[in-house]
This record gives sequence, structure tokens and C-alpha cells, in this order.
Amino acid sequence: MSERQSIHGQWSNRLVFILAATGSAVGLGNIWKFPYIAGENGGGTFVLVYLVCIALIGIPIMMAEIMLGRRGKQSPINTMATLASEEGKSNGWAALGWMGVVAGFLILSYYSVIAGWAMSYVFRTGSGMFTGATADGVSSIFSDLVSDPEKLIAWHTIFMVLTMVVVSRGVKAGLEKAVTFLMPLLFALLLLVLGYSMTTGYFSQGLEFLFTPGEITGKAILIAMGHAFFTLSLGMGAIMVYGSYLPKTTSITQASLWVAFADTAVALIAGMAIFPIVFANGLEPGAGPGLIFKTLPIAFGHMEGGILIGVMFFLLVVFAAWTSAISLIEPAVAYMVENKGYKRVYSSVLIGIVTWFVGLGSVFSFNIWADKTWSIPFLFEDKNFFDTLDYLTANIMLPLGGLFIAIFAGWLMRKQASTEELNTLPVIYKVWLFLVKFVTPVAVIIVFLKAVSVI
Ligand code: PHE
Repeated sequence: MSERQSIHGQWSNRLVFILAATGSAVGLGNIWKFPYIAGENGGGTFVLVYLVCIALIGIPIMMAEIMLGRRGKQSPINTMATLASEEGKSNGWAALGWMGVVAGFLILSYYSVIAGWAMSYVFRTGSGMFTGATADGVSSIFSDLVSDPEKLIAWHTIFMVLTMVVVSRGVKAGLEKAVTFLMPLLFALLLLVLGYSMTTGYFSQGLEFLFTPGEITGKAILIAMGHAFFTLSLGMGAIMVYGSYLPKTTSITQASLWVAFADTAVALIAGMAIFPIVFANGLEPGAGPGLIFKTLPIAFGHMEGGILIGVMFFLLVVFAAWTSAISLIEPAVAYMVENKGYKRVYSSVLIGIVTWFVGLGSVFSFNIWADKTWSIPFLFEDKNFFDTLDYLTANIMLPLGGLFIAIFAGWLMRKQASTEELNTLPVIYKVWLFLVKFVTPVAVIIVFLKAVSVI
């Protein structure tokens, strides 16, 4: 049964899928976001909770998403509707796909703004302006950039256009080859920065900060869990839609383990590279979204060949962001192509324009709207537009999406269907089923309740 075909095509082979999924997972989340939220939330325990979430929630949900996608072979909205009706359940499950589409589009709106910062840093580093710079000098260069809405809008626009170009051509074209060598290069450059950090004399302090457990709040646990979803691109259909282009023969278990491993490695190395620089220069670990832009240029300004290494580094960050950005709107584009009969190009441009507009809110959050903040009782206090979007998407929408994916895959799908589709060793299947049936849903609910201080 279930010999559906995707109308959007198929990955050429298993390696390409793994690379594309890794490309989606590894992005700003690893290099920009992980270090700064670890810094804001006290380090050690936060990192530990994040790692536990990757293992017990992230990997099983990733397997579930790929499985559902490959079985449904359509955009997450239609995949959920089709699979639900196959299992005799309400096609209201399509709403899960819809929530993902909205989350992806909201995330992309601010993701593009931050990717714009990284783009501008390619040129800043290249101009040599960081050579020999002090921590103060580097911080003020960052403030100059973000306080200028026009510059931010220009970079945001360029990044959105780049994303639209790739999405309109279809995820496969061009991307497959590029990812093959750019991902390893990014890894190598991170190791170079790590090498520099080891020479600062503060390496062990950095490690201590990242890995020594301390106190943690319910909110920080929510942020760590939300980040596990965000960094693995889970809970919104990106991995599901990539799974829908996956040939039948690929092992879902192996692919998921590899993607989670690569993603976690990049985040941890980024953290280990950044915190020694933070401490060596008397910077604040909780410096917020500007953290990597205030620290890494110091390294590039002081190491041998720093200009070239820095330029390549920021270029690769942009590339990593790019391969993630396309997966953020692929679910929406696939849906429009399927249901409205629009061309890919038209769908991409349309969604791109709307996303661009919403992104302006994030641009202004760093300057003219910086103190336009608001609070939602129990949820958060004093967040501006950018912080609100980030919080609602990563910490609420993605875990909620994950919760429903777990419920669907673990409780509603017939065992025969999930066994057939996962096609893995019986013990692995049992462990997976246990995790999606019990561990994931219970964990997500407990963390939600704890974050609003109900328990
Ligand atoms: N995983 C990406 C990152 O870490 C962000 C992302 C989230 C991409 C959700 C797709 C879906 O940067």
C-alpha cells in the first residue's frame, strides 16, 4: 500500500537527504542563538537540559516527522489530512500543518534580519576594521549597525531575495552540491576559532560556564526545550516536508541520529569557541542577540590571517542560515503548489513579500521600536516585537507542534503503519514508540506547566 508519489520530486539519494536535513538544522540556531541563550540562562544546567531534550524529545520527534512526511508525500497540511483520514481520524489534523506554516513564516521573518547582520559582517570583517580592535570598539561597531534601520532593511531584503531564488527553483537544484562541501568547511572554521579561544587563557572558564550545572528556572527549562525543537527544525513541518521527498529505502533512524549529532556538535563547538572570548575580554555572557557579533570579531582581529578566516566564517554562517531559511517556507510553498496550482516561483515570491514585511517589525525592534515592549501574564514580560516572535515560535508553537506530532505518531497511527514506514530494528521501534507515546508528550506538558509556574 501507500505507493504515493510526491509531485515535487525526490532527493537523488540518501546522502542528499541527510545533507539537506542537516542544512536545515544547522543554522543561526547553532551559531548565533545557542551561545546567547545559554549565556542568558546561566550556562551549565541550561546546556544539560537542552542535551537531554535533544536525546529524549528531539530525536524521536525527528523520526516521527520524517516518517509522517514520507508516508504522506505532500506538504505537511495535506500530509496530516491524508494520514488522519487513512487512520479514520478527523481531517482537522491539517491544522497541525497550518500551525507549522505560520510558525515557519514568523521565524523566517526575523531569521532573515539576523542573517542580514551576518552578511554585513562579511564585509565589515573583510574591510579590516576589526584588526587589533578592542572589545569596546567591536561592541560599538555592532551597535552602529543595529541602530541603523536602513542598513538592516537592505540586508534583510537581500537575504529574502536569496532565499526566494532557491525556493523558487525547488529545494534540490544547486543546493545538493553546495551543501556537500560548505557544511564541512563551516565545521573546520569553527574549529579554527576554537583553536584561537584555547590561546586566550580563559578556555577552562568557558568550559566551566557551559558545562557546570547550577540553578535553573522553569522559564529557562522551557527555553532549553524550545531550542531543542528550533535547532533541529522540528515541530513545524520543515523536516516533515523534507521527509516527503525521501526515497523509501533510506533508514530514518540513521538519518535522524546523524542530523542530531551534527547539529549538536556545531552548537557545542560554537559555545566553546565563544565563551572564552567573552571572559577574556570582560564581556557579559548575557549580552543577548549581539553576542557572537561582539565576540568573534575580537578573535578575527587578533589571529593570524584573521581577515580571511573571518570573511569565510561569516560567509559560511550566511550559507548555513540560507539552507535553513529555505526549509522554513518549503511547507508553505509546497502547499500552495499542491492546492492552489500556483507555480513555485509565484508561491515563493508571494510568501517572500509577506515575510519581508513582517520582518520590518524585527528590524525596528533593534532601534526605533526598541522600547516598545509588552507583557503577557504568565508567559513573558517586557518583550519587544522581535523577542515576542522568537518566544512564541520557538518556545510555544514548535513544542506544541511536536506534542501533536508525537500524539499522532504514537497514539493514533496504527502500529502496523508506523512499523512499516520506520522499518527499523524491533528494539529501536519499541524505544521510539515509548518515547513518542509517553516521554515526549508528558515532558512537553510538564515543561509548559512549569514555565507558567503552575507546578
Ligand atoms: N534549525 C534552524 C537553525 O537552527 C532553524 C529552523 C527552525 C529551520 C525551524 C527550520 C525550521 O538555525
